[in-house]
Amino acid sequence: MLNYRDHIMDKMTEQDGASLNVVGENIQALKIIFPEAFTEDKLDFDVLRQLLGDAVDESEEKYGLNWHGKKKARQIALTPSTGTLRPCPEESVDWDTTQNLFIEGDNLEVLKLLQKSYANKVKMIYIDPPYNTGKEFIYPDKYQDNLDTYLRYTGQKGEEGFKTSSNTESSGRYHTNWLNMMYPRLKLARNLLKSDGVIFISIDDNEMNNLRKITDEIFGIENFVATIIWQKVFSPKNTAKYFSEDHDYILVYSKQKEIWEPQLLPRSEEAKDRYTNPDNDPRGPWSSSDLTARNYYGDGQYEVTGPTGKIFGPGKGRYWRQNFNSFKELDKDNRIWWGKDGGNMPRLKRFLSEVKDGVVPQTLLLHTVVGNTQEAKKELLEFSEFEETENVLNSVKPTRLLRHLLKIGTSPKNENIVLDFFAGSGPMAHAVMLQNFDDGGNRKFILVQLPEKLPKEEASAKTIADLAKSRIRNVIKKIYGKNPGKSGLGFKLFKLDSSNIRAWNPDRNDLEGTLYEHTEHLAPNRSEEDVLYELLLKRGVDLTVPIESKEMTGKTVYSIGYGVLFACLDSTISRDEIEYLAQGIVAWHKDLAPASDTQVVFRDSAFIDDVAKTNMTAILEQNGIKHVRSL
Ligand SMILES: C[S@@+](CC[C@H](N)C(=O)[O-])C[C@H]1O[C@@H](n2cnc3c(N)ncnc32)[C@H](O)[C@@H]1O
Repeated sequence: MLNYRDHIMDKMTEQDGASLNVVGENIQALKIIFPEAFTEDKLDFDVLRQLLGDAVDESEEKYGLNWHGKKKARQIALTPSTGTLRPCPEESVDWDTTQNLFIEGDNLEVLKLLQKSYANKVKMIYIDPPYNTGKEFIYPDKYQDNLDTYLRYTGQKGEEGFKTSSNTESSGRYHTNWLNMMYPRLKLARNLLKSDGVIFISIDDNEMNNLRKITDEIFGIENFVATIIWQKVFSPKNTAKYFSEDHDYILVYSKQKEIWEPQLLPRSEEAKDRYTNPDNDPRGPWSSSDLTARNYYGDGQYEVTGPTGKIFGPGKGRYWRQNFNSFKELDKDNRIWWGKDGGNMPRLKRFLSEVKDGVVPQTLLLHTVVGNTQEAKKELLEFSEFEETENVLNSVKPTRLLRHLLKIGTSPKNENIVLDFFAGSGPMAHAVMLQNFDDGGNRKFILVQLPEKLPKEEASAKTIADLAKSRIRNVIKKIYGKNPGKSGLGFKLFKLDSSNIRAWNPDRNDLEGTLYEHTEHLAPNRSEEDVLYELLLKRGVDLTVPIESKEMTGKTVYSIGYGVLFACLDSTISRDEIEYLAQGIVAWHKDLAPASDTQVVFRDSAFIDDVAKTNMTAILEQNGIKHVRSL
């Protein structure tokens, strides 16, 4: 006889209300590498220390940035979220087909919720966090109950929305607040990056120093790639007290530098024009480069005679880059250019057909090439239905800049996921769609944005998240308008909310009452779709996988991700329906033949008693479906 509790009631309510347990995952990883450091499932630090040898720093004073709350900030990244992401098909575009996501919510909670489904899946992250200028508001993370803070902030809980204020220098914790906000988010973000992924972070001098320290710590100093300087304004601000600040920084880190490669950028027409063919070489246009260098090279100290008989040495303090034999070989192959009349210092011919298929990215980005803030504001105005110009974010980024980063960080040949979790007015979604449209790429975006109130409410938007959504809709309309047959645009909207699965929070004074109430584990007023998407997150399935449904004996059964998960969330399943329903699921499962283990989920309260549940489990198990759960 099957023990029903062993099979169905594994991991009930409380854990199910929380997102991936990062600590648990890390411990599993440690166990794989250092099995001998574990006794009876507990880590023995002394053994681990011995196994790590000299790599352990035992000194009290350590190199690195410290601030009040750092320990807590590290801890907070490890605490699972008790929230969920609720689907909003009615506010989305092309819900059934799109692979893009827009998530409205606090990004700390959202990043936690995405840990299981998107770990090691994101190819590129771009973020443009608040720069901590003292003017913008910094989200009031409350570590005790962050989700509760969010629900109050958005007015979903409590009387009215949270009052929020900006993080000013007089607050006394100016840099600390910002660091506490950034640290856990960056830690969680890193988990989502693919090993050949890259992160770009916009910042200015207010926090550049601090950011660099924490990114060195989180991503590893060895994975630092570059600091880009972006010329954000084109005319200097003469009213500035000291210097006119004309640029922002963009910090670049790869997850694993040895395997990350930037995509080469297309050669500009101007760069191509530098290749000519004055000697009609059949190998096509070429440009010439210096054959000498300053670095000492013992074999590079000879003299050569040019076609006119003139003799050339490398010059004082310089050396030929090739030894004499290589030089002769190159000359024989007509790869040395002695000038039009043959009497010039020799140079090396580099053929366009032989150089790299593009140019490596540069750290200096001029506004003429990637746009500036004014251009970004114009773009935003063009794609939003604004009445109040004060709602145009000052920090808005031009799509040309983001497209430039997309060209470096993603390839049109792959289905790369791009994440921006400080999405603002949504220029990253705009840039991804334009870039895909231009190069036929298939990049997908995930944007996260807080429903932060706009300075002035608009008819079309109350919050910055609304603003971004309306901008994205308008971009889609414009692209569809020009290309009626186009597909692959759209976005699925999700909103952060409390879990659909009720946490076990007993009322100590009325235990009987609470027990009775808890025969139903699902929160009231939630739809089957709400629960399905929470199951996806818990199971670690991509939020864009297809969901199909079939009617069986009057009940709706869902197959998620081609049979990775089946769910029947009907509120009652009678004894007579069990056999029919179970056999229906078995047949569908056979048809789909999913590659990985299948899980089947029912509503706990739908069964009349334990015998009914046991029967259901037994039939499914006899047919190879071992993971049966109830909510
Ligand atoms: C500098 S702006 C980004 C501007 C954006 N790049 C653009 O071009 O429109 C930073 C954004 O992050 C958002 N934000 C701040 N804290 C957040 C949080 N905890 N979760 C999600 N978004 C947040 C703010 O509402 C703001 O819109």
